[in-house]
Amino acid sequence: SGGAGGGGGGDTYPSDTIDVIVPFSAGGPTDTVTRILAEPLGEELGVQVVVDNVEGAGGTVGAGEASQADPDGYTLLLHHIGMSTAPTLYPDLNFDPVADFEPVGLVTEVPMAILSKTGLGPASFEELVEYIEANESTVTLAHAGVGSASHLCATLMQDALGVTLTEVPYDGTGPAMADLLGGQVDLLCDQTTNSASQILSGAVDAYAVTVPERVAVLPDVPTTAEAGLPDVEVSIWHGLYAPAGTPEDVVTVLNEALITALGNDEVKTQFEELGTSPVSAEQAAPSVLSTQLSDQIALWGDLLGKGN
Ligand code: MLT
Repeated sequence: SGGAGGGGGGDTYPSDTIDVIVPFSAGGPTDTVTRILAEPLGEELGVQVVVDNVEGAGGTVGAGEASQADPDGYTLLLHHIGMSTAPTLYPDLNFDPVADFEPVGLVTEVPMAILSKTGLGPASFEELVEYIEANESTVTLAHAGVGSASHLCATLMQDALGVTLTEVPYDGTGPAMADLLGGQVDLLCDQTTNSASQILSGAVDAYAVTVPERVAVLPDVPTTAEAGLPDVEVSIWHGLYAPAGTPEDVVTVLNEALITALGNDEVKTQFEELGTSPVSAEQAAPSVLSTQLSDQIALWGDLLGKGN
């Protein structure tokens, strides 16, 4: 055929709109990262790149749908660390993150921030810990479902503090953040891509970031290590995937377009304003995502599997 296959037989790939499944609600961090990339990706590929939010079950509904899509390069998945925790958290998972997908490339790695609604009272992480211990039976903690990054952070935080809080699940931290801003829920651990602007405007209170170094755009927020909780450390890596069986030359076209989009100055600026940055061209190689995914499945299998 005249090109990399896919689309109308014999057309050069891509010759049609590409859908990128985001397994969480619109307006959340995964959605934000994908929408920033969609335009430069589309420009590079010469077709429309459309974001398709397929929510539910901590990202496993959308990832499952992507695993069933035709392997023609016209349906992709942009997902995060949840691809690596799902096999442990969902024993009867309806997809295999490794066998059912072709890695296209890593996109970015995003810090998280431990947040409360304004007016909760604590003025520091230490005071937040005291507040949580004193109000364990009433404090509410939002997340985006078992398997989400916010739920993973919530789990690490509760384990480190030895508390069990009332969890309030959402289909993404877009809606979770809306309730935090409205004061309907007390706490949320969310990625800086979804919370940096709310923190800087004072619309929510931030107590710590879950990475070893402070986040440049949030210089006044201490790290969890500084705040005395070094075990609450997690950063949310995101990858772009195609269904298993997608032709190698299609994956190559996608990977090259991804690398170009990640090198786009506008993308870099937007990511940096949100507390993160695009991965380097070297880091965006498919083999790096493949290794990251396998390593993380093993790591979280060990860390999360113990308790079950
Ligand atoms: C998560 O908690 O996994 C994400 O924040 C969900 C989302 O992107 O909305």
